[in-house]
Amino acid sequence: MRGAGDDMTDVGASLRAAARRYGTPVAVTDMAALQTAAATVTTAFPDPWIRTFSLKANDVGGVVARIGALGFGANVVSRGEWAVARRAGIPNHRTTFEGIGKTDDDLRAALRASRDADPLGWLAVESIDEAHALARLARTALGKGTLDVLFRLNPSVQPDTHAGLAVGASGSKFGMTADEVTTAAAIVAEVDGLRPRGVHVHVGSQLRSVDAWRDGVRRALSVVALLRGAWPTFDTLDVGGGFPVLPPAEPAPDPARFAREIPPLLAQHDADRRPTRFAIEPGRALVARAGYLVGRVLHVRDREGRQVVLDVGMTDLIRPALYGARHEVRALTSLGRPVDGPDSPDAGEACRVEGPICETTDHLGEHLLPALRRGDLVSIADTGAYAASLASTYNGRPRIPQVVLEEDGHLVLARRRGSTAALG
Ligand SMILES: Cc1ncc(COP(=O)(O)O)c(C=O)c1O
Repeated sequence: MRGAGDDMTDVGASLRAAARRYGTPVAVTDMAALQTAAATVTTAFPDPWIRTFSLKANDVGGVVARIGALGFGANVVSRGEWAVARRAGIPNHRTTFEGIGKTDDDLRAALRASRDADPLGWLAVESIDEAHALARLARTALGKGTLDVLFRLNPSVQPDTHAGLAVGASGSKFGMTADEVTTAAAIVAEVDGLRPRGVHVHVGSQLRSVDAWRDGVRRALSVVALLRGAWPTFDTLDVGGGFPVLPPAEPAPDPARFAREIPPLLAQHDADRRPTRFAIEPGRALVARAGYLVGRVLHVRDREGRQVVLDVGMTDLIRPALYGARHEVRALTSLGRPVDGPDSPDAGEACRVEGPICETTDHLGEHLLPALRRGDLVSIADTGAYAASLASTYNGRPRIPQVVLEEDGHLVLARRRGSTAALG
């Protein structure tokens, strides 16, 4: 039986086995690592915190189902993600629907679930326009059902993260000002069955410090305190996701560090103006470390240093091209023989590692690698978040298979490799 602390040797053997069985590229989710991450988040935010998993980080049904079994509901941004969550066994009452892209059809689907007495945990409204649309659609689609509604606050903070991940900045396209939240809540409250229930805030992803998060939560608490006076049911604060997973050498606050900020912030409000329900919706913190991509070497060239080109790249992991993210690349075989991790005796030479796509941004950075030749296997670490869910079929490459490495070492296919027949 494998445990969470097992080293790369053990995982390395499983990754080689996955490549043998399913071919490359292949994505592997290590359940032991997933369980460790889920336990870390759950310990920091224990019951009665409402914990949902943001499917945008990883929408592989088999992975979502396992996260559901670990005590997480689903946080979805589309009917597509909602359908994945349902198929993964997560009921509507443990599913929350937010996101800037919601269409009338999405809103109607949420309302109909309430009409059919199977309501979502809540729907989070992004704008006054959306509040009007929801109110209008509810008059025909809600029937006698009820739907709890949260209002997304733009906290107007500048988090310490990549600009592309700083969604809580005031100029970003996400959420509403405090005044807009008040207006949107009043629009929604006009309709029987729609229940203004609280504030949703998400400061950004990969938060390197808790400062902006603290400010965001403080602002959200003030809005709850204000609106709780108008609607006693306005009792919920969803503080979003954003807990970072950075390369091991970079310091990062853990979920418990974020959680410790909450009690002093709450203490600033009278007890009857505080929220009584609290929620988080992390994505990355649950899945990032559990994921590996396994690829094969296609070319090794000695040109201005060594260059290694893989069969896995930006179609399977776009984060380096999109955000300059760094993921460790390690050899799983060297000249056809198994090796494990950076500590292997011939760990090597600095190599520029490249993906196979016809874009120069398909580049995985510089890594120390042993002698490699065409056909050798490598792994790319920490690829469980924003990899499969952001994959594309660019350059005519079908989706790669998704495999779960169970705790007992078994490999289970969670999603088949796409077919070339389905392209075009
Ligand atoms: C509203 C919202 N909630 C949760 C998340 C999940 O963030 P993370 O994966 O950083 O935890 C995101 C990510 O973009 C988001 O936009």
